[in-house]
Amino acid sequence: MSVIRIQGMRSLQGEMEIQGSKNAVLPVMAAALLHEGRIVIKNIPRIQDVFCMIEILEALGCGCRLEGHELAIDTRGLCKSQVPDEAGGRMRSSIMLLGPLLGRLHQAETCYPGGCVIGRRPIDLHLAALQQMGAEICSEGETIQAFAGNLQGAKLSLPFPSVGATENALMAAVAARGITCIRGAAREPEIEVLCRFCESMGARIEGIGSSFLTVYGGRKLHDCEFTVPGDRIVAGTYLGALAATGGELCLRGVPATHMAGTWEALRQTGCVCEFGPDRICARMDGRPQPVNLSTGPYPEFPTDLQSVMLAVASVAEGYSQIQENIFEERFATAEELKKIGAHITIEGGSAYVMGSYPLAGGELWASDLRGGAALVVAGLASENESRIHGYSYISRGYEDICGDLTALGARIALEED
Ligand code: EPZ
Repeated sequence: MSVIRIQGMRSLQGEMEIQGSKNAVLPVMAAALLHEGRIVIKNIPRIQDVFCMIEILEALGCGCRLEGHELAIDTRGLCKSQVPDEAGGRMRSSIMLLGPLLGRLHQAETCYPGGCVIGRRPIDLHLAALQQMGAEICSEGETIQAFAGNLQGAKLSLPFPSVGATENALMAAVAARGITCIRGAAREPEIEVLCRFCESMGARIEGIGSSFLTVYGGRKLHDCEFTVPGDRIVAGTYLGALAATGGELCLRGVPATHMAGTWEALRQTGCVCEFGPDRICARMDGRPQPVNLSTGPYPEFPTDLQSVMLAVASVAEGYSQIQENIFEERFATAEELKKIGAHITIEGGSAYVMGSYPLAGGELWASDLRGGAALVVAGLASENESRIHGYSYISRGYEDICGDLTALGARIALEED
C-alpha cells in the first residue's frame, strides 16, 4: 500500500501548471456519448476517476485512447446501456451516464453510484428531472433501470442547485426533442464547462453561467476537440497549503473566475492573492489568521475545500468556525487532525477550532478524497514526520500531489508501506 511521508515546517515557493479539472472532465466524458462520432478532450488529469470512467466507456462499447493528457473517444461502437457495477460503484460520476445513455440508446442501467462517504448523497433530483422528460425509471435495491422512447423537452425546476442533477438534466436535454428549461440550475464552473463542451458538439444552450438554462434539444451533433480548464479545487488545496506553511506561489491554468468563494477564505487567512485571466499568484507571511466560513453552492465557499480549510484553521492564530451546509457527514477529517494536536469541536454541522502551531505530526488515515488532501496540508504544518495512509482516496482526484508539492519545496514523498 502506498503511504505519503512528510517532513513538515517548510514554506512553499515556486510556480506550476495545475492539472485538468476532475469535476469538469468527468461529465464531459459522459456527455461525449451524446454524439455518435469522435471526440478529443485535452488537459485530461491522469487520475483514478478518469481511468474508471474510461473503463466504463470501453465496457459500453466505445473506443478510448489516452495519450499523455489527451483522450480520444470514439463513440460509434456504443452498444451497451448497462454500466458495470464494479466500476460504477467506485465513483459518484457513474450516475452522469443516465442522461446520455437515455438520449443515445433510449435505455440505461446502473448501480447506485459510489464515491466519497460524505453524506447520504441521494439521486432523487437526477431521477425526477429525467422522469419529467419522459423517462420511465425503476430502482430495485442497488440497481436503477431507465427507459425512454424519446426524451421530451420539459420545464424543470430544481429545489436545490445540485451539480450532478443539473449535469444529468442538461445532457438529457441536449438529446431531447424540443426545448428544456432548467430553473434553479447549479452555477458551479463545471456546469459552464459542460455547456461549452455541448456547444462545441453543436448544441444550443442559453443562460450559460446563470441558474436558468434553456436547451434547444434534438440538434445534430458533430465531432469536436475540447480543452478542460485547470482544477479549481486542486489550486485551492495548494493555496490552502501555502496559507498553512507560508511562502509564495504562482499557479497557472485555473481561470480566476472559477475561484469565487475560495478567494474570501484565503483573504481571511491573511494570504495575499493576485490573479490574471488564468494565473493566480499568492503570498503568505507568518501564521494564518482564524477564519469564519460557511460552505454553499457556487459562488459561495466550496464544500470541497472545507476539509483543507479545517487543516489551515488548526494552525491559525486564534479561534475559527467552519459551517458545512452541503454534505451532512463531511467532518471525518477532524478526528484525524485531533490525533496530531488540533483542537476541534464538531457541533450542529459546524467545526469550532482553536488553532495551535505547529501540529505534532504522526500516523494519519484518509477516508475520503478531499479529507486526504487536508491531512497532507496538516502534515506540511507539523513538526514531526507524518505518514498518511489511504493514498487510493487522494489519487482519485490529485494526479501527483507529492510531485507537485515537492516541486514547490515541500519534503514529501510517496512510499510503499
Ligand atoms: C459534485 O457532487 C462534485 N462531484 C462534488 O465533489 C462536490 O462536492 C459537489 O458537486 C458539490 O459541489 C463531482 O462533480 C464528480 P450535488 P454531486 O448533487 O453532484 C444533495 C469531490 O471531492 N442531493 O451538488 O454529488 C446531496 O446529498 C466531490 O470532488 C440530493 O439531495 O453534488 C448534497 O447534500 C465530492 N439529491 C447536495 O445535494 C440529489 O439527487 C449537493 O450535492 C442530488 C444531490
